[in-house]
Amino acid sequence: MIIAIDGPSASGKSTTAKGVAEKLGITHLNTGAMYRAVTLGLKEAGIQPDDEKSVCQFLAGMDIRFDESNHIHLNGIDVSMEIRSGDISSQVSAVSAIPMVREKMVMAQRQIAGEKDCVLEGRDIGTVVFPDAEFKFFLVADVEIRAKRRLQDLEKIGETKSISELIEDIKRRDELDSSRDHSPLVQAEDAIPIDTSCLTIDEQINKIVNLINKK
Ligand code: DC
Repeated sequence: MIIAIDGPSASGKSTTAKGVAEKLGITHLNTGAMYRAVTLGLKEAGIQPDDEKSVCQFLAGMDIRFDESNHIHLNGIDVSMEIRSGDISSQVSAVSAIPMVREKMVMAQRQIAGEKDCVLEGRDIGTVVFPDAEFKFFLVADVEIRAKRRLQDLEKIGETKSISELIEDIKRRDELDSSRDHSPLVQAEDAIPIDTSCLTIDEQINKIVNLINKK
C-alpha cells in the first residue's frame, strides 16, 4: 500500500506523514529530505546547480540512505539537522528543479518504497513517483500559518527570521516549485485536498487514518 501526501512547504506534510505511518505501523519516507541532502552535498562540494557536468559527477558518487531512526545520511554522514537550515531551504528549489537530480531521486524513492507499505511525502508523489498510489492526499494551509510553523522549525535548530521574511521565502518557493518544467508541484486529480490551517496535528493525522480505514 502506497499513501502519497503532497503539498507545498510547511503545509503540515512531515508531521502528518510521520504520524500516519506510526499509527498504521508502516514506513515513512520524507522525499523533501532527499532533495535537501543533495542540495547540501552540492553546496559543500562547491558545485553550482547550473554546472551540469559537475552535478552529474556528484550524483554518480552520491549515497543517500535513511537509518532505523529515519535520519538521513549523505555519503555515510547523518545530515538530518544541517538540511533543515534556512540556507538549504533557500537553495533547495533550484536544485530540485534539475531533471537529472529528479530522475535519480524518483528512482531511489521507488526502490525504497516499492516493496513495502509506505507513506511518502513530497511534491510529486501522487503525480509522478507513484501515480497509482492507493491513497493520495494534498495538504494546503494559509501562508501566515505556514510561516509560523517554519519559524518553529528554525528555532529548534537555533536560527530565526522575521515572519514577513518567512512569508516571502514561502511564496518564492511555492512559485518555483509550482512553475518548474519538470514534475511541478500540482495536486493530482484523484487526490483528496486537506486544509490544515485550523487543524491540530492529531486532527490532521486522524482525518487521514480514518479515510484510509474507511476503504
Ligand atoms: O518538503 P520540503 O520543504 O522539505 O522539500 C524541500 C524542497 O524539495 C521543496 O522546495 C521542493 C523539493 N521537493 C520536490 O521537488 N519533490 C519532492 N517530492 C519533495 C521535495
